[in-house]
Parts: sequence; structure tokens; C-alpha cells
Amino acid sequence: MRKIVLAGNWKMYKTQAEALEFLQGFLPQLDKTPEEREIVICAPFTALGTLCANMHGTRLRLGAQNVHWEEAGAYTGEISGPMLAELGARYAIIGHSERRQFFGETDETVNLRLKAAQRHGLTPILCVGETKEQRTAGVTEAHIFSQLEKDLVGIDQSNLVIAYEPIWAIGTGDTCDAKEANRVIGLIRSKLSNPDVPIQYGGSVKPDNIDEIMAQPEIDGALVGGASLEPASFAGIVNYK
Ligand code: PGA
Repeated sequence: MRKIVLAGNWKMYKTQAEALEFLQGFLPQLDKTPEEREIVICAPFTALGTLCANMHGTRLRLGAQNVHWEEAGAYTGEISGPMLAELGARYAIIGHSERRQFFGETDETVNLRLKAAQRHGLTPILCVGETKEQRTAGVTEAHIFSQLEKDLVGIDQSNLVIAYEPIWAIGTGDTCDAKEANRVIGLIRSKLSNPDVPIQYGGSVKPDNIDEIMAQPEIDGALVGGASLEPASFAGIVNYK
């Protein structure tokens, strides 16, 4: 049985006070959420401690948005696995397209970060996906296969989540057609040694398109940016039909 994982990616949004306010609005809406759905918030580093302290005894899980490959060292601006584990993080997004595009993340550093996350007991959420240009040029599959081949070297596939995020669908409102996302995710699964790795779809997921997305047989959850920032909209997503 593949696990269902619905994760919010808060990106660079929310102070500690705003994170707490979100929790107050969101937690009561999980009362009727089916048990087998794993619900995760990947928050900015500065909000993790407060969130952890106020999530005890709830079913919500905490995640980070990056992790460095060393345990400690002279790496200004970075964060390590032990630091995140101490704050109660269980997940870490790795290789998000915004990291790859704006912060020089490569498949090689993504691979190092994935290994570090696993070493410190975190479940990495590896993001892969194509640009509009790559899709138009017909190289979507080749690009994603290349990412998987390089990113997954030496990675334990029993502790891994993958998010298929077409870059052109992120933050644009231009959601990938659910059947097309299902097709690409099926292809991703065909490249894995463990077919039970949960594979999410990400890119303009909203309460009004989640039912169709989750009705697809290959799709095991969602990675949600903008719509995870408001309690009502994220609740509308995790409580899909
Ligand atoms: P979005 O972001 O839901 O706002 O499109 C998704 C993501 O970047 O993970």
C-alpha cells in the first residue's frame, strides 16, 4: 500500500506568530481527515521550533525546505540535519525548482542533501519537473529521467517521497492536466527500484482541483504552495473527497 502524503510548502512566508495563527485555524479542521493521510507543513526554519512546541499530540507532521549535507561547518546561511531533527522535523523538501533556479542547486548537491536528510532520520521530498520550454521541445521525460538518475544515486527508496512539479504550473494557476500528471508520475514510478515510493503532484493545487488530482491512480498526494498558506484552503485540500 502506498502512503498518501499531502504537504504544504510555505516557502518564505510566515513569521512565528503567523505560523501559530495558522495552526489554530487549521488543526480543528483535521478532526475528520482520514487517518491514513499524512499531513505535513514544510515551514521556514525560524517557525519550526514554535510549530513543533504547539503540534504535540496532533497528527500534523513538520518538514523543512532544505538541508545541508554536512552536520556542521563553515557554511554560512545553511542548516544541518541534526538541527532540523532537534526541532521535530520529519520531512525535508530537497531540490525544489526554486532552489535549482535561484540558488544554484544541481543534481549533485541535491543528491548530497537527500543522503544527509536520510542519515538524520528525515524523509526527503525530492522535487523533479520540466520547464515550459522543455515540455514544448518534447524532452519532458528525458529531463525527468536524467534528474532521477543523478539525484537518486545511493538513496534508500524505502524512506523517500517524490514530487512531480512541472515548473510552468508552479504559482501560475496553470495546473497540469490531472491525466497528464498521472502519466508522468507513472513513468517516474517505472524508473524506481521501489514502486511503493509515494509520488505527489505539485503545481497550483487548490481545493477545487484536488479531487480530480487524487482520483488518478498513480498520484499519491500533493505538494502545495500558495494554497497551503490559509487554514481553510489547505484544509479543503487535505480533506479531499
Ligand atoms: P504552488 O507551489 O502550489 O503555489 O503552485 C507549489 C510548489 O512550489 O511546491
